[in-house]
Amino acid sequence: MARYLVTGGCGFIGANLVKSLLADGHDVGVVDDLSAGRRDAIPEHVDFLQADVADAAGLAEFFDTSYDGAFHLAANPSVTECLNDYSGCHRTNLTGTVAVFECASKAGAARGKPVPVVYASSCAVYGALQTLPLAEDMPTEPLSSYGADKLCCEVHGRMAAGAYGVPSVGLRFFNVFGVGQRPDSAYSGVLSIFCDLLVSSRQPTVYGDGHQTRDFIYVDDVVAATKAAMARAVDVSPAVFNVCTGQATTLRDVGAAIASICGVPFDPAFAEPRPGDIRLSTGDPSRCREVLGWESRVGLEDGLRRTIEWLAAGRGPD
Ligand code: UD1
Repeated sequence: MARYLVTGGCGFIGANLVKSLLADGHDVGVVDDLSAGRRDAIPEHVDFLQADVADAAGLAEFFDTSYDGAFHLAANPSVTECLNDYSGCHRTNLTGTVAVFECASKAGAARGKPVPVVYASSCAVYGALQTLPLAEDMPTEPLSSYGADKLCCEVHGRMAAGAYGVPSVGLRFFNVFGVGQRPDSAYSGVLSIFCDLLVSSRQPTVYGDGHQTRDFIYVDDVVAATKAAMARAVDVSPAVFNVCTGQATTLRDVGAAIASICGVPFDPAFAEPRPGDIRLSTGDPSRCREVLGWESRVGLEDGLRRTIEWLAAGRGPD
């Protein structure tokens, strides 16, 4: 059994990861500033530091030699907030990542054994490439400061593996959904929002014509990919992988599927497309399958049912 640090461990993906690591019998420490995450999303007994991840000195005190690896998920994932607060989000999203690499490097040197870092990147690094599915060796042309910072995390990940002795694996998450993603959060994805509205017979709004596609991936699959990356980090570092299903689904189709599970008609309102909205997005999961032996297992409908059940039950901390 191992001891892992999870930054952003009170957020949507982070809390699911923390619970899964604990269930596997690992020990976990969590750093989260609680700007979006909630302390009650993870068990009380977990070692916890409420801190800004970009404060390297504060992080270093907590990130001691007891950790065998770090999962770095703390970020501000809202493209809109990144647009409104360019330098503030840059600090969280890139300076925070550099701080984690620095602490991992120092902890690794002190314990005489490298401390790998598995960190969240994003499909936002691709921008609006026209060739689909998106594969890791394609050009990266981010359109948002969020995507630019995630791409820079990957550059630092490659560099830190060499210059600072930190094995690193970046995961380009596509559209993650599932239990724990709060529809009222500024960071919520469309599926939580639609499930929450339709389960109580309220009308969702589709921005644009609804024919845009996304590669929706269930959070349990993302957790499994993240753990698979840690298991192989030392061998494959430095590396980046898409974490996706390879399936393109239109918003209309997924809306209709949610409505059908909820037993209501899908009759959305339509509004102007969101500025900068990407039309088509699908990833190629082959590299992750071939190198990490991971593939998505939870089908879209199964994931939707689990999400709807959780929302209908009042979305408690679990
Ligand atoms: C997602 C990521 C974002 C990342 C981007 C990269 C999430 C929550 N966000 O954004 O961090 O930078 O991919 O490409 O995963 N929509 C509606 N009605 C709603 C809400 C959304 O029609 O009430 C539409 C959006 O306009 C969009 C689609 O649904 O076309 C998906 O939206 P969203 O879930 O917010 O994710 P992305 O915009 O793909």
